[in-house]
Amino acid sequence: MEAISKNFFLYLSNNKVLDRLAKRFGSRFGADKIVGGETFSQAIPIIEQLNHDGLQVTVDHLGEFVTSEEEARNRAEECVEAVQLIAENQLQSEISLKLTSLGLDISHQLVIENMEKILKEAQAREVTVTIDMEDSSRCESTLEIYKSLKKDYSNLGTVIQSYLYRSDCDIEELHSVDPYLRLVKGAYKESGKVAFIDKEMVDSNLKHLIKKNLKNGHYTAIASHDDAIINYTKQLEREMSLSKDQFEFQMLYGMRNETQKQLVKEGYTVRVYLPYGEDWYGYFMRRLAERPANVAFAIKGIFSK
Ligand code: FDA
Repeated sequence: MEAISKNFFLYLSNNKVLDRLAKRFGSRFGADKIVGGETFSQAIPIIEQLNHDGLQVTVDHLGEFVTSEEEARNRAEECVEAVQLIAENQLQSEISLKLTSLGLDISHQLVIENMEKILKEAQAREVTVTIDMEDSSRCESTLEIYKSLKKDYSNLGTVIQSYLYRSDCDIEELHSVDPYLRLVKGAYKESGKVAFIDKEMVDSNLKHLIKKNLKNGHYTAIASHDDAIINYTKQLEREMSLSKDQFEFQMLYGMRNETQKQLVKEGYTVRVYLPYGEDWYGYFMRRLAERPANVAFAIKGIFSK
C-alpha cells in the first residue's frame, strides 16, 4: 500500500498538466505548511522567526521543468536577488538551487554562466550556495559542474544521495576539492540498476557515507528526519570526539518542528530547508510520496480554503 501511494505521488510530481493547473489556482492543498510563500519577500518573516528560534535556514527558489533560456536566466536573477535580500536583511540563511532550473537541460554554457553570476554575488555577500541533487540521470553532470566551480568558489556545496550505488566513489573523488556536502537518502524514483531499492540498504549506506565524510575531515550536513540517523550521528560525535561545529543537521520546513527545536537546545546547528516560489507543486508531491502521513494536512488544506 505504501509503495503504491509513493509511486502515485511520484507520478503526480512529474505531471506537467497538474503542475500548470496548480500554478493557476495558487498555493493550496496544505502546501503553505511546508512552503514559505510564493515570493522571497513572503518568506522573509518566516526566516526571521526561524532565526529567532535559533535555527539556520537555506532557502530554495522552487523551480522545475525549465526549458527556455530566458526562463533559466530569470531564475538566475531571482537567485541573485535572494542573495542580496539575505545580506540586506541580515538573515542567517544560505541558498539552495537546482541546476535544471538554471538551464542544465538546455546547455552547459548557460548553466555555468548562470551559476557564476549567482556565485559571484554570493561570495561577495558571504552567502553559501548548495546545489541540490536531482534524479540520477543528472548526477554525473551536476558533480562535474560542482567540482569545476568549487575551485573558484569556496562558498559552494552539493548533495550526495545514499540510495545511489555510486555515492561511495563520489565522496572519494570529491575529497580533493574539500567539499561541503549535504548527505541525504534520495527523493527520486530510481531503478535497481543505479540505486538500492531496499530501504535498509539506503539507511545503512547513509550511515556509512556520514562516517566517511566526517573521517575525511569535511564539514557535513546530515539531512534527515529519521531518529535512527540523528542518533547515529550523535553516537559518531562521541566515538570520533567530534565538536559540534564539524557537522549540522538539516530538516525540511514544517517537518519535525519539535525535534528541530530540541536539537538546538542540545547545542547542535540545525538548518531548515525553506522552499518558496510559484512552482511548489512538484516539491509538494514528492513530500507526500515520502510520507503518506503528510496527506492528512493536504486534505485539511483542501477544505480550509
Ligand atoms: P525517511 O523518509 O526515510 O523516514 C524514516 C523515518 O523518519 C520515518 O519512519 C519516521 O519515523 C521519521 N520521519 C520521516 N519524516 C518524518 C516527518 N515528516 N515527521 C516525523 N517523522 C518523520 N533529496 C534529494 O534527492 N536531493 C536533495 O537535494 C535533497 N535535499 C534535501 C534537503 C534537506 C534539508 C532534507 C531534509 C532532505 C532533502 N532531500 C533531498 C530529501 C531526502 O533525500 C529524503 O527523501 C527525505 O529527507 C526523507 O528521508 P528521511 O531520511 O528524512 O526519512
